[in-house]
Amino acid sequence: MLALRSPSSISPLLCLVFLLCLLYYPQLALAKCHPDDESGLLAFKTGITEDPSGMLQSWKPATDCCAWAGVSCEAVTVSGSRVNSLMLSGQADKPNSFLSGTISPSLVKLGYLDGIYLQNLRNLSGPFPDFLFDLPKLLFVYIENNKLSGELPTEIGKLNRLQALSLEGNKFTGTIPNSISNLTRLSQLKLGQNSLTGGMLLGIRRLQSLTLLSLEENRLFGTIPDIFLSFPELRLLNLSHNRFSGKIPATISYLAPKLAYLDLGHNGLTGHIPDFLGKFTALDTLDLSRNRFTGIVPTSFGNLTKIFNMDLSHNYLIDPFPEMNVKGIESLDLSYNRFHLGQIPNWVTSSPIIYSLKLAGCGIRMKLDEWKPKETYFYDYVDLSDNEISGSPIGLLNRTDDLVGFWASRNKLQFNMGGLRIVKTLKYLDLSRNSVYGKVSGAIAGLEKLNVSYNHLCGQIPSTNFQATAFIGNDCLCGSPLPPCKKWAEPAAD
Ligand SMILES: *[C@@H]1O[C@H](CO)[C@@H](O)[C@H](O)[C@H]1NC(C)=O
Ligand SMILES: *[C@@H]1O[C@H](CO)[C@@H](O)[C@H](O)[C@H]1NC(C)=O
Ligand SMILES: *[C@@H]1O[C@H](CO)[C@@H](O)[C@H](O)[C@H]1NC(C)=O
Ligand SMILES: *[C@@H]1O[C@H](CO)[C@@H](O)[C@H](O)[C@H]1NC(C)=O
Ligand SMILES: *[C@@H]1O[C@H](CO)[C@@H](O)[C@H](O)[C@H]1NC(C)=O
Ligand SMILES: *[C@@H]1O[C@H](CO)[C@@H](O)[C@H](O)[C@H]1NC(C)=O
Repeated sequence: MLALRSPSSISPLLCLVFLLCLLYYPQLALAKCHPDDESGLLAFKTGITEDPSGMLQSWKPATDCCAWAGVSCEAVTVSGSRVNSLMLSGQADKPNSFLSGTISPSLVKLGYLDGIYLQNLRNLSGPFPDFLFDLPKLLFVYIENNKLSGELPTEIGKLNRLQALSLEGNKFTGTIPNSISNLTRLSQLKLGQNSLTGGMLLGIRRLQSLTLLSLEENRLFGTIPDIFLSFPELRLLNLSHNRFSGKIPATISYLAPKLAYLDLGHNGLTGHIPDFLGKFTALDTLDLSRNRFTGIVPTSFGNLTKIFNMDLSHNYLIDPFPEMNVKGIESLDLSYNRFHLGQIPNWVTSSPIIYSLKLAGCGIRMKLDEWKPKETYFYDYVDLSDNEISGSPIGLLNRTDDLVGFWASRNKLQFNMGGLRIVKTLKYLDLSRNSVYGKVSGAIAGLEKLNVSYNHLCGQIPSTNFQATAFIGNDCLCGSPLPPCKKWAEPAAD
């Protein structure tokens, strides 16, 4: 013990003795659980009331806690290790993969903890864990997708050593405490998907090391403060699904060199889309959907050569749409603005990697048979509803092998439905209010949603669970869920 307290005084002889000991008793060198860590972790386990997938099965008293699932240790002295990270996460695709209960304050005994990761455990409840304030080495907090509730503590700024704070996907309420401006070492702040209210704090401008700021899906309101002058590292900004109003603040332009992801969708933002967005050379995702933007899409967008995902849908944007120089757009949604595109733009048709194309209500007047996308291999979603598209989708659906959704209601399509290939992957098909004729094939039974109402279809409806409104308004469709077919009319001769 003496030697450990003053390492400079360790004599060579002691060293040799110690090394020999290690040679004969190698378990001395193995990570061994410190009693404080063990009791803290076992108290955490006691706070868990349900663990149906056995996440904490290996957590047994008198076994080495450094070997327990989700627990990592680091050597802090020559002979001793301490728990430095606790990482438990549920798997989204496994219904049993959750924990119920509360987070025991006894975790404060884990005095060397630098990271706590309790992610997707779904059913952990209780208030903000105050014991975090008393963990002197804590740097990373990810308590995500659980059911923690109540207000965030006003003194949250005391956690000023933190490099990452994520409380995303809980049920926190109230405002974001002012003191958050003292967390100046944060590179990630994620408070999305809670029920936080109030404005976005001016004080956030002090968090100059942020690479990621996400506050989406809360009830934040007011204007987005003009504070973006000082975020040289910010790559991801997600403020979507809130109640922000006013214009996109001018200082957002300072994020141009590095910002890759900008989501301001689903708010009440107004004004024009600023020219400066065209200078965001690193931008790969831009979502401004469901706001109240007016005016044109700036011609500077022609310089967004790396953009993969762009959603400008549900605004009041007008023509002309700029010529884009993007090599390959992956997903595009321009639906429901005031565009009159006429054609599907060439930069879309030529994309080798597009999987989602939504151009509903875009004033497209073309014959669908004449649209020859360069690559159809990746197409999952195509929404061309509410245009003036004529002709037939048969050729297109014959080339899109993995299509999941095709929406084309309220157009002028005219084709025999019997010729339409329904691939196995297809889940959603809406052809309502066109001029589709022929019979409804049995292949539609595998779909999740179907609408072929208001066309010129005829004959017996194959057996499915779809409602009558999916079939009404046709010339002579019959059978459940519509009135039964008259025997003598089957098969229809003419
Ligand atoms: C979640 O926890 C609550 C109480 O802690 C419990 O009543 C409920 O059954 C749990 N839910 C699930 C899905 O286990
Ligand atoms: C930030 O920390 C300083 C120094 O600890 C303190 O004086 C100040 O009140 C804190 N700010 C907020 C908003 O809590
Ligand atoms: C941004 O928020 C939206 C809405 O919750 C979500 O769908 C999207 O995945 C988020 N993006 C990132 C990168 O977190
Ligand atoms: C694209 O960027 C170049 C160089 O920065 C600039 O000269 C040009 O005007 C920009 N194009 C548009 C359409 O803004
Ligand atoms: C559908 O594709 C197959 C082969 O890929 C081809 O033989 C057939 O003629 C096509 N049908 C239509 C209607 O385009
Ligand atoms: C089908 O479309 C029609 C008209 O577009 C609509 O009125 C009806 O509610 C839709 N039915 C279903 C099941 O989606």
